[in-house]
Amino acid sequence: MTSKPWGGRFAKETDASVEAFTASVHFDRRLAPYDIDGSIAHCRMLARQKIISSAEANKIVRGLRAVGKEIADGTFPFRPEYEDIHMNIERRLIEKVGAVGGKLHTARSRNDQVALDTRLYLRHEIGKIDTLLRELMLALVRKARDEVDVIMPGFTHLQIAQPVPFAHHLLAYCEMFARDRERLSDCAGRVNRMPLGSGAMAGTSFEIDRRYVAEQLGLRTVTQNSMDAVSDRDYIIEFLAGASLIMMHLSRFCEELILWMSEPYSFVEIGDDYCTGSSIMPQKKNPDVPELVRGKTGRVYGHLMALLTTLKGLPLAYNRDLQEDKEPLFDTVDTLKGSLTVFTGMLRSLTVHAERMEAVAAKGFSTATDLADYLVRKGLPFRQAHQVTGVVVRFCIESGRDLPAVRLDEFRGFHPDIDEDVYEVIDPRRSVSARDIPGGTAPSRVRRRLRELEQSLSRPSRTKGARKPKGR
Ligand code: ARG
Repeated sequence: MTSKPWGGRFAKETDASVEAFTASVHFDRRLAPYDIDGSIAHCRMLARQKIISSAEANKIVRGLRAVGKEIADGTFPFRPEYEDIHMNIERRLIEKVGAVGGKLHTARSRNDQVALDTRLYLRHEIGKIDTLLRELMLALVRKARDEVDVIMPGFTHLQIAQPVPFAHHLLAYCEMFARDRERLSDCAGRVNRMPLGSGAMAGTSFEIDRRYVAEQLGLRTVTQNSMDAVSDRDYIIEFLAGASLIMMHLSRFCEELILWMSEPYSFVEIGDDYCTGSSIMPQKKNPDVPELVRGKTGRVYGHLMALLTTLKGLPLAYNRDLQEDKEPLFDTVDTLKGSLTVFTGMLRSLTVHAERMEAVAAKGFSTATDLADYLVRKGLPFRQAHQVTGVVVRFCIESGRDLPAVRLDEFRGFHPDIDEDVYEVIDPRRSVSARDIPGGTAPSRVRRRLRELEQSLSRPSRTKGARKPKGR
């Protein structure tokens, strides 16, 4: 027998290198509050089912609370020789309440315990991330509201394409983040399931009440297969995939902000409080915040790949490989929360150079499509209208002019049906207003969508599969 909680069948102490290699308490300690919540719920159920006495349960619950307080205060003695947070807490409990503490692990295994803890942790973090996404969307709609009349050039292939309201561009990101929140809520529906009772992998012979445990923890359902429940990490992978999409959306936005802040664009300026300087070039003000958010996207994708790879080829049921789920998950949560927080602050600090955006929006023949549509309204097939407009554009390029500088007699040389009203049609503001369909750029449409988003953001959100925990 060795000094380990599982040391009964061992004749030799664990090698120090193995102890260091297998320990996880230095990172899974962040599961501590959920481990304690889960243990209290389990313990109460054991008493309710008369598997332990209520006096014993009360002692254990009091002990768990005291341990929880030590952890919160920072006085808890974390010991790597007890491997993980689960055994650290159980050992400390026994130190505090005596041998009765050893009854807590009745009808339970670390395999279902760690699955429960991770689910409770992730439920909590999804709620926080949802709040951060909501705050980001609020910052976006506020900025869109402030700059609702500003026109900017829209790009395809990073070439000037068509004028658009700046607010429409901002709200495009709002749509992405709204979908991100839907995805997280969907994922939460599968996170919020109660795995305890699965034991090591085959369930338990004790007459436990799994639903009662779920109810106490505010979880809607219990898992349906003990082998699946101890080896399932799909919900973490789903979360990592959702997080990857959020980072991807942030990163695209970052890329645009970096371009927009560069001298040749000069569309926006990020506040001094969200930029950094150069150690050698005194004139520099660098967009390091969006660069870093863009950079951190890679590591979140990496975590998704890492866990998918860890799971690939794992036989049922629990294998220690699964301990490798935590660091990618924790780092993703930290990276995502950090990125969302700083990004929202940066967005609020943004100054918009409206005149510059509007000047560029009028360049690059951004209303050439409107001229083609004008000709279509005169009866030309679109292909032909496209052709004629292309010739006009080439004429402009060769004579160094923009579309509005073409005289009416010159226009008529390209097509006799062109009239004076063509100058209205090729005005960027008119071009924007003309796209008066759902999802289009007309100011009335943009304002309507803005109002809808403002309204939906003013309502509190609820993620799926969670209830208010009972009596706590
Ligand atoms: N620390 C382990 C993990 O994170 C807990 C479960 C360990 N179970 C076992 N049989 N070794 O996965």
